[in-house]
Amino acid sequence: MLVERREFLRRSVVGLALPGVSAILASCDPESPDGNVDAAPRTSTADARSLAATPPMGWNSWNVYGPDIDEGRILAIADAMVDTGMRDVGWEYVMLDDGWQRTRGSRFLRDLEHDPDKFPRGIGFLADAVHERGLKLGIYSGPGVETCAGYTGSGGHEREDAVLFASWGVDHLKYDSCCWPGKGSPDVADLHRTMADALRATGRDIVLHVCHCGWDDVWTWAREVGGHHWRIGQDITDDFDLPGHREGYYFDVLDMIDRGVGLEEYSGPGGWNDYDMLVVNLRGEGALVGDGATREEYRTHFSMWSILASPLILGSDVTRMDDYTNETLTNIEVIELNQDPLGIQAARVRKDGDLEVFAKPLENGDQGVALLNRGLAEAEIGLEWRDLGVDWDAALARDLWAHRDLGSFGEGFATSVGPHEATMLRLSPS
Ligand code: GLA
Repeated sequence: MLVERREFLRRSVVGLALPGVSAILASCDPESPDGNVDAAPRTSTADARSLAATPPMGWNSWNVYGPDIDEGRILAIADAMVDTGMRDVGWEYVMLDDGWQRTRGSRFLRDLEHDPDKFPRGIGFLADAVHERGLKLGIYSGPGVETCAGYTGSGGHEREDAVLFASWGVDHLKYDSCCWPGKGSPDVADLHRTMADALRATGRDIVLHVCHCGWDDVWTWAREVGGHHWRIGQDITDDFDLPGHREGYYFDVLDMIDRGVGLEEYSGPGGWNDYDMLVVNLRGEGALVGDGATREEYRTHFSMWSILASPLILGSDVTRMDDYTNETLTNIEVIELNQDPLGIQAARVRKDGDLEVFAKPLENGDQGVALLNRGLAEAEIGLEWRDLGVDWDAALARDLWAHRDLGSFGEGFATSVGPHEATMLRLSPS
């Protein structure tokens, strides 16, 4: 819980490092340096301005259901997005992930069709039903002849499939190379470009997720080939902090936050660093690896994805949400940090062991701030305005979870933050 003890900062340390808590590890992928490789400009193209001008928000079926999706489940989620108030605060897409297809196996041998048992009235019907609810429909495929779960892919049939998706009224495509054709392949950007061009040729606005395991510095080229967001890491797990994950394939919440440090310049209107789908409320019961997290840890996860300008794509069962989770996912003040039109990914401006401060400038001149305690004991975290690169004499601070103005502060602000929690602030010069 937030501890509402606060004081003017009289010292310039961020807080107290906790003994016995491990330091941040380096990224698991030695072949993906955080450096500047052909930095894609953050400026938008005309296309980018209209598509994904702010990070896409929605729901995706994979984390909770895996391939076990059907029309009933998807429409129940769409209804719940309306009933819970999620739609009205910006949650927009309902995305089918892998498993909607009729057949498994190579595209060389099979057509791409929907599974008539799972979707008896077809995907076009589903798109209409989703649209009637004021939402948009996403679908899934990939450049391989098979998808990650072994279903028929789009390899070699990109134009045909783009036309099919557009004819159904699809609004978003997750195009997943499943780490194929492997790290360092010169072809991978072209494979995604081929689909991006095919989608654009349909004339329908379809947001494209270039999904490539966070490999090959995908953030340096995905925008240029026509992508609107791109995963920066391998698959997320349903864990806040489980040491050892990133040495293998999976990233927990803290691993993913670390992965994005240094990638800020690549994210912005029209193209976003994607921290992977939210595991909020999955509770260890979904289709993902992981044992679940506490509801406070899930709130921290949501807060950080928001300030980092990641797409917010929920992967849990919206029909089973308690009040606390509903309050988490519909906190408009936190969502506003995510959807701010400047589109800046928060940078880590202070770090002292497990205590970190992330900040981002907002369009109206305010700053969004997260005081993140990665550790297992409550600790004081603070910042000074000069950390933000501003020359403010004083600033008003607002607590975005308490929905409360905290007052005016002279040089900086500090507060006590619970274990695995993040205090979220909006600061305005005064
Ligand atoms: C990969 C992706 C997941 C999901 C599955 C579907 O593992 O990273 O998000 O789309 O494929 O098979």
